[in-house]
Amino acid sequence: MNPTIAHNITEFAYLASIVLFIMSLKWLSSPETARRGVRVGEIGMAIAILTTLFATGIIQYQWILIGLAVGGLVGIPLGLVKTTAVPQRTALSHSFGALSASLIGISEYYLHPALTTKFGMVEISLEVIIGSLTFTGSLIAAGKLQEILPQRPITYKGQNVVSLSILAAAIGLGIALMFHPGFTILFPIMVGVSLLFGVMLVTPIGGADMPTVISLLNSYAGLADALLGFVLNSRVLIVAGALDGASGLILSIIMCKAMNRSFTNVLFGAFGQVQAGAAAGKEERTVRSATPEDAADILKAASNVVVVPGYGMAVAQAQHKVRELYDILTRQGINVTFGVHPVAGRMPGHMNVLLAEADIPYDKLLEMDQVNSDMVQTDVALIIGANDVTNPAARTDPSSPIYGMPIIDVDKARTVMVIKRSLNPGFAGIDNPLYYMDKTLMLFGDAKSFVGEIVRELQGGHQL
Ligand code: TAP
Repeated sequence: MNPTIAHNITEFAYLASIVLFIMSLKWLSSPETARRGVRVGEIGMAIAILTTLFATGIIQYQWILIGLAVGGLVGIPLGLVKTTAVPQRTALSHSFGALSASLIGISEYYLHPALTTKFGMVEISLEVIIGSLTFTGSLIAAGKLQEILPQRPITYKGQNVVSLSILAAAIGLGIALMFHPGFTILFPIMVGVSLLFGVMLVTPIGGADMPTVISLLNSYAGLADALLGFVLNSRVLIVAGALDGASGLILSIIMCKAMNRSFTNVLFGAFGQVQAGAAAGKEERTVRSATPEDAADILKAASNVVVVPGYGMAVAQAQHKVRELYDILTRQGINVTFGVHPVAGRMPGHMNVLLAEADIPYDKLLEMDQVNSDMVQTDVALIIGANDVTNPAARTDPSSPIYGMPIIDVDKARTVMVIKRSLNPGFAGIDNPLYYMDKTLMLFGDAKSFVGEIVRELQGGHQL
């Protein structure tokens, strides 16, 4: 084929994949279009990979095939993990992505030393530093989430100074290489120091903050990919890396805002340890509990019900039972909506994914502000495995660690019913005054079984 035509086809294919990536992100931002977003992203990636394979003059395919086989062997089981394990799986994926970006930068340095200009050296060094620290940082994050490593923040005196000195050393080595690219001994030292910095960066952060850290590491991995795009002169990699980097950063900001935390607090705050006083306080006060039959009677008498799902619904995999409950209440003319808090569960969009999986209509999923504005007219707020995201202490108790975090104001509903197994705290490790309010009924039990029992009660009543 004429080389100009071949070049134009290649450029067009890359442009098409860039457009598809952008559309994919746009569609991923709403549950209604998220599936389409995933498909379009996959098509964009397939076009980019195929174009690279066939249009860049690859002479030997055997290593690519071996890589594909090894990657498939690791990737397929990783794709099949339970949804509750998705945060650590995502951390592992980031670590693999960052490792590959880092390895490509390393091979570029050793394979093409003659082509390395001062500017090229800056690109390679930055890319390898960010890729390497993201690799080890993501591994530590995955280890903490999987509880292979201690979840608690591991800190020591002067830790921030030591960590920042290590980062400064990596950057210093990069600068030295910029002026003396032939001084090859510095390069592996820079890689080693960056790997060490990744460990130092994430080890002092509590397991509780790992989802936010993962999102931040995701943005670092994107940045490493964009820099790699400059090194390899690949426009598609620059754009894809920039999209990844920017979306990871935006997501981290959204998560911090929803938890009323700052980046510095997440990175240096050692948050998420169980408060010593939480367990003691709850012993002294009494709560009212109720049976599935009581709960069914209260729901039947309601006109408006807001369901607030949380991490416990994910753990119990109760979403399909919740769908049955939604169906039966809706058939009885009761208006049922879902109040979805942005950080309910353990990963961004956790509740949206589960409720979409159970085919709850998207227009019934309301964001926090929407649902809060109608809460005083709500007859029943039914909380299913959520805790922190409904804790009124965030509004009323300035001494609470979650004070200022926006919550779903379930305490303003006429009746509150909470399905959970005990009075144990949630993620933030703090007691929830909601459970001791006069209007609150505790429905103690596993979310899936309890919702199932309410459904059975309602079916019995319905058939009569
Ligand atoms: P949590 O506050 O963690 O509460 C979940 C509750 O579910 C627990 O109190 C637990 O009580 C209950 N539970 C566990 N297994 C259950 C089961 N099988 N059946 C019924 N209940 C069960 O969850 P939340 O309200 O969703 O809040 C999320 C928290 O995670 C927030 O603090 C948020 O800041 C944090 N966080 C979220 C994210 C993202 S992106 N979502 C990221 C970082 C941090 P029992 O043990 O008594 O059953």
